Amino acid sequence: MSKASVYVTRLIPEENIDALRAEFDVEVNTEDRALSTAELKEKVRGKSAVVSLLTDNITSEVLDAAGPQCKIFANYAVGYNNFDLAAATERKVILTNTPGVLDDATATHTFTLLLSVARRIAEADKFVRTGGWKGWAPMFFVGLDVDRKTLGIAGLGRIGKNVARKARGFDMRIIYNDVQRDLAFEADTGALFVDKDTLLRDSDFLTLHVPLLPETRHYIGAAEFRKMKRTSVLINASRGPVVDEKALVEALREKLIFGAGLDVFENEPALAPGLTDLDNVIIVPHVASATPATRIAMGDIVVANIRNVLNGLAPVTCVNPAVL
Ligand code: DGY
Repeated sequence: MSKASVYVTRLIPEENIDALRAEFDVEVNTEDRALSTAELKEKVRGKSAVVSLLTDNITSEVLDAAGPQCKIFANYAVGYNNFDLAAATERKVILTNTPGVLDDATATHTFTLLLSVARRIAEADKFVRTGGWKGWAPMFFVGLDVDRKTLGIAGLGRIGKNVARKARGFDMRIIYNDVQRDLAFEADTGALFVDKDTLLRDSDFLTLHVPLLPETRHYIGAAEFRKMKRTSVLINASRGPVVDEKALVEALREKLIFGAGLDVFENEPALAPGLTDLDNVIIVPHVASATPATRIAMGDIVVANIRNVLNGLAPVTCVNPAVL
């Protein structure tokens, strides 16, 4: 009997590709670049399963090109805003993601950005490299204190909670806002539920962990920056469009806030004009989950989902359970 066919839209860890190859007929895009929609349509045609990335725009057109035999698109990411979810559900295509395994890496990265902005690490590194350093001085690169400050968390999902737990090591006061309260978490950590205005007003550090939805697009914009403390820091390792990047450039330029740490951008890989001219922002290329163990663990979920679905079983992590 011929093996079911799987298309992988970009290289993922070798271990995961090998695991797929052991059971399926696997084709991988080995060029290290995202495919265009035309290329995607061509490549997924006739496949039983597709491993997609957050850089693949999976529209109804792509789903139709894959054809009715295609059972599953396994997204190699926890986020799945690259998908037309309704179109997948309508076509009875199962869509899966990789929750849980990247919480530690993403929360650690959030803290890396937070500490780096607070202590002006990128700015200081550039200063030394470009020969500016002439010797120690007391008022050199004075940044912000972190210990015992207030950490505001927008979105108390798995990653937001992980960040909160890590913040306890700095004795930070935790406030959060979400669509629902988590009383058990509050009792466990002392975190305080607040409304959005209080979150903006009281946070010394505000970190965003909401999913990208129509309601969270530009969750932080010009009006929000005006409510924040001038000494505050904004961290975004969720999705770029959650912040109005043009308004952020303006806020950083006008020093409405102290600084920002960004892992994600509104129109990746393009950046808002003026962003790279600013010293009070740290910019990294969407790498919050980029650790070896995390990358393999994400792939393990992808493989398990494809294996289950192509063997007639339920996937491990399905984001459109209506199709099951
Ligand atoms: C995700 O999984 O959604 C991250 O943005 C990339 O790992």
